[in-house]
Amino acid sequence: MRFAWKAGLLAMGALVGATLPAARAADVRVSIDAGKPGPVIHRNVYGQFAEHLGTGIYEGMWVGPDSKIPNVRGWRKDVVGALKALHVPLVRWPGGCFADEYHWREGIGPRARRPVKVNTHWGGVAENNAVGTHEFFDLVEQLGAEAYVNGNLGTGSAQEMAEWLEYMTAEGNSTLAQLRRKNGRDKPFKVSYFAVGNEAWGCGGNMTPEYYVNQYRQVATFLKTPENNRPKFIASGGNANDTRWTEVLSTQNLKFNFDAIGHHYYVFPSGQWEGKGPAAGFAEAQWISLLSYTQDFEKTVAANIAVLDKNDPQKRLGLYLDEWGSWYDPEPGTNPGFLVQRNTLRDAVLAALHFHMFHAHADRVHMTNIAQMVNVLQAMIHTDKTRMVLTPTYHAFALYTPFQDATSLPVALSGNPEYALGGKSMPAVSASAARGKDGRLYLALVNVNPREAQTVTVALQGAAAKRAVGQVLSADAMDSENTFAKPDVVAPKAYEAQVRDGALSLPLPPKSIVVVALD
Ligand code: AHR
Repeated sequence: MRFAWKAGLLAMGALVGATLPAARAADVRVSIDAGKPGPVIHRNVYGQFAEHLGTGIYEGMWVGPDSKIPNVRGWRKDVVGALKALHVPLVRWPGGCFADEYHWREGIGPRARRPVKVNTHWGGVAENNAVGTHEFFDLVEQLGAEAYVNGNLGTGSAQEMAEWLEYMTAEGNSTLAQLRRKNGRDKPFKVSYFAVGNEAWGCGGNMTPEYYVNQYRQVATFLKTPENNRPKFIASGGNANDTRWTEVLSTQNLKFNFDAIGHHYYVFPSGQWEGKGPAAGFAEAQWISLLSYTQDFEKTVAANIAVLDKNDPQKRLGLYLDEWGSWYDPEPGTNPGFLVQRNTLRDAVLAALHFHMFHAHADRVHMTNIAQMVNVLQAMIHTDKTRMVLTPTYHAFALYTPFQDATSLPVALSGNPEYALGGKSMPAVSASAARGKDGRLYLALVNVNPREAQTVTVALQGAAAKRAVGQVLSADAMDSENTFAKPDVVAPKAYEAQVRDGALSLPLPPKSIVVVALD
C-alpha cells in the first residue's frame, strides 16, 4: 500500500509505534526553531537522472508503442505510474557521459529512419535513437516533471547546441520551429535547465577547468531562447572532493548564461574507484564506511559553497549536485557497462542522509539528480521484462515528499551518541525539519546505528505539537532488499508518537528513517 501525506493517513494499518523500544534516560534532544524559517528547499533537490545506459531507459521505461507491456506512447504505464506517485519533480537527460556523444538530430523524425549508433560509453550496445527529444518531453510531461537537457560539448559544437535549443523553444516560423511542428509538436517544449557538457574533467573531454571555462564562454554566447523559456544554464563542475573547478568557474567573470555549477559526488563503500565493494552481502564495516563517506560529502559541499560565498556573495550562482548516489562493484553476471546494482536498506539510509545535507544547504543547492532513475546505479525502480519492483531508495524518496518546496527550519541536536566501528565514527542520529507547503511541521530522523535503537525528544520553539505522525522505514538486515519474489521486505510502515509527561519522544529503531508531521 502506498502512503499519502494527508489527514487520515493512519488508515493504512497498525501503528508500529506501539512495538518500538521504550524511551531511555539518555535521549537525543532535537531542538527545532519554527520561528526562524530558513531558505526554501527547492523541489528539484529531489530530481532524477535518466541516461541512455543499460536498461535505464530502453526496457526499464521505454518499451515502444507496439509492446505488449502496457504503455502510453511507448512509456511503461507501471513505471511511469510509480514515478508519478513519487512526485518526481525533474528529470535530467540524455546523460551523463552519453550526452557528449549524443547528436539530437539523430533522435527526431520517424523512428524507423533514425540511425543506429554504438553506445561506446555504456556496454558498446546498439543505440537506435528510439528515444529522442519528443519522446523525452512526452515522458516528463506524463510525469508532470521539469526537463533538464544536457548539451553535447565533447563531440558537438556551439551551433549544434544553439540549434537544439532553437528546435525545442522557438515560437515563430523558423525552419527549426517548423521542423518541430512537422515532427508532431506545435507548442515549444519547456526546457528548465540546460548544461554545456558533462564531466568535462573526464568523459566529457578530459579538459582543465581553464580550458573548459573558455569553451563555456564561447558556447554560452550563442545559446538563445525566447525570454519566457530561458533555461537555467549549467557549467560542468568538479568531482568528489574537488573545489578547483568551482574556484575557476566562479572567478572567470562568466556573466552570460551562467546560472549554476554542476558538481558530481558518488560514494563507494571502500572509498576507492577500484574495488568499490558489494551492494549487498556486506559486513557492518562497509555499512559504516559508506555512510561516513556520505557524511564527508557534506564537507565537500560546504567547501564548494565557501568558494562561491567568496566569489559570488550575491548568491547568483547555484551549486547543483547533478549526479550523486551509491556506486558498487558490477553485479556478477551482468554487463559491467550497464551499472546494474542491488539496492538495500543501506541505500535508503544513505539517500536520507543526502537529503538532510541538501536541506541544510538549500540556499545554494537548488537542484540535485540521483543517479539514476531506473535499473542503473542507485535506482528507484528495478524491472525485469513485465515485472517491476520498488527499491528501498524509492521508499526513502517517497517519505521525503513533504520536503519538496518546504521552508527549512533550524535544527540542533544534543546528547547525540557517536556510532563507531573500526576507526570510523559518526553521530548516530541525523535530523532535518521544515514547514511544508501545507503549513504542517515536518521532522525527518535517521538512526544510522544498525544495532542500537535511539530515542529522540523534540523541543519545539515557535510552535507546539501533541503528536508525531508519519512513517518509519527499516528492516531486519542492513542489506534487506526488495526482490521480484519478495517486493515488500523494505517498505514504510505507519508511525505515531504522542506527548507523554510533557515530552514528545520519538523512538527510532536501529538502522531506520522516520519522517513525521508534528501536529
Ligand atoms: O551515472 C553514470 C555516469 O557517472 C555518468 O554518465 C557520468 O557523468 C558519471 O561518471
